[in-house]
Amino acid sequence: MSNNLEERSSSNGAKYLAQQKYSEAIAFYKQGIETDPTFMSNYWHLCLALLLQEQESEAMATWLSILEKADIEKVNTWTLDLVKVLIAEAIRCEAVSDFKSARKMYGYAAIARSQAWKKVKGYEFITDWFSQNLPIWEQYLIHLANKPEINILEIGSWEGMSACWLLDNILTHESSRITCIDTFEGSIEHKLEYNDSYIKSVEEKFDFNISQTKVPEKVTKIVGSSQDMMRSLPLTNYDMLYIDGSHLASDALTDAVLGWGLVKVGGLIVFDDYDYTFPDDLEQDTKIGIDAFLQAFCKKVNIIHQGHQVIVEKTSC
Ligand SMILES: C[S@@+](CC[C@H](N)C(=O)[O-])C[C@H]1O[C@@H](n2cnc3c(N)ncnc32)[C@H](O)[C@@H]1O
Repeated sequence: MSNNLEERSSSNGAKYLAQQKYSEAIAFYKQGIETDPTFMSNYWHLCLALLLQEQESEAMATWLSILEKADIEKVNTWTLDLVKVLIAEAIRCEAVSDFKSARKMYGYAAIARSQAWKKVKGYEFITDWFSQNLPIWEQYLIHLANKPEINILEIGSWEGMSACWLLDNILTHESSRITCIDTFEGSIEHKLEYNDSYIKSVEEKFDFNISQTKVPEKVTKIVGSSQDMMRSLPLTNYDMLYIDGSHLASDALTDAVLGWGLVKVGGLIVFDDYDYTFPDDLEQDTKIGIDAFLQAFCKKVNIIHQGHQVIVEKTSC
C-alpha cells in the first residue's frame, strides 16, 4: 500500500471511530488487513474498535494471533504500537472527563503488555487473575523497583504470575528477594472450578515459571498453609506483603494479622479480591475479613488504594 493510500485508509478509519461507528470501523480495518496484511496499524485500530464495541475477547484473540507470529523484536515494537493507540484513546477519554473509559483503556494497555511479557519470557500460565492489577501495581510499587534488599512476602502464588512479574519488574536488584507461601492445593473455589489434574500440575508450573525468570535463587518457596507458615517468619523483614491466598473472610483476616508484625514500618500490605463479597455466605466474604483488619488498624495504616485490591502503607507499629 502506498503512503497516500495508507494515510487515506487511516483517516477513514479514524472518522468511523470518532463518529462512534464501531461496526463500520471494524469492517473497515478488517478489509484493510485483507488488502495488506503487513500494514500493522490496521490491526491496532481493529483491536481498539473491538474494545470500544465491547468485544474484548475478539480484541484479545486478534492481539494473541499477532503475538503468535512475532519474533521477540517484533513483540516489543508491536506492543509499543498497540499500547500507543490504546493510551491515546485513554487520554482522549480523560480530556472529555470520561474517566471510567480511560481507566478501562489503561487496563487494556496493561493486559497487552502483560501478554507480550509472558511471550518474551516464555512463561506458561493457564490462568490470569493478575494482569488486571498491573496499572495499580505499576503506579504504587514503582518506588521499590531495583532498590537493594527489598523483601516481599506473597501469600498465594498459584502458577507464579504475580511472583514472576515482581521478580522481573520490582525485585531486579541482585540483593532483593521474594518468599512465596502456597498450599498448591487451590482454594475452595478452585476445587469447584478446575479439575484435579490441573490443580495437581500447579506447583510444577510455578517451579517452571520461576525457573524462566533466570533468578530462581531469589525465591524461597514454602509449601503449606499461610496461617501456619507465617508464624515462623522473621519480624519486620518485609517491604511488601501480598495477601492473595485463601479468600475466606477468617483466613484473609488471619493472614493480615499474622503478617502485620512481619512488615516493616513504611512497608505495603496488598489485599486481593476486596470485591469478593457474598451477602448470603459471610464466611466466603473476603471483604469482611479485610474490612475488620482495616477498622482495627485504622490508626496505624494509610489506605493508598481501594478497588478490586486494597493497598495500605504501615505507618506505625
Ligand atoms: C488466586 S491464587 C493466587 C494467584 C497469584 N497470586 C497470581 O496472581 O497469579 C490463590 C492461591 O492461594 C493458595 N491458597 C489457598 N488457601 C491457602 C492457604 N490457606 N495458605 C496458603 N495458600 C493458600 C491456592 O493454592 C492458590 O494457589
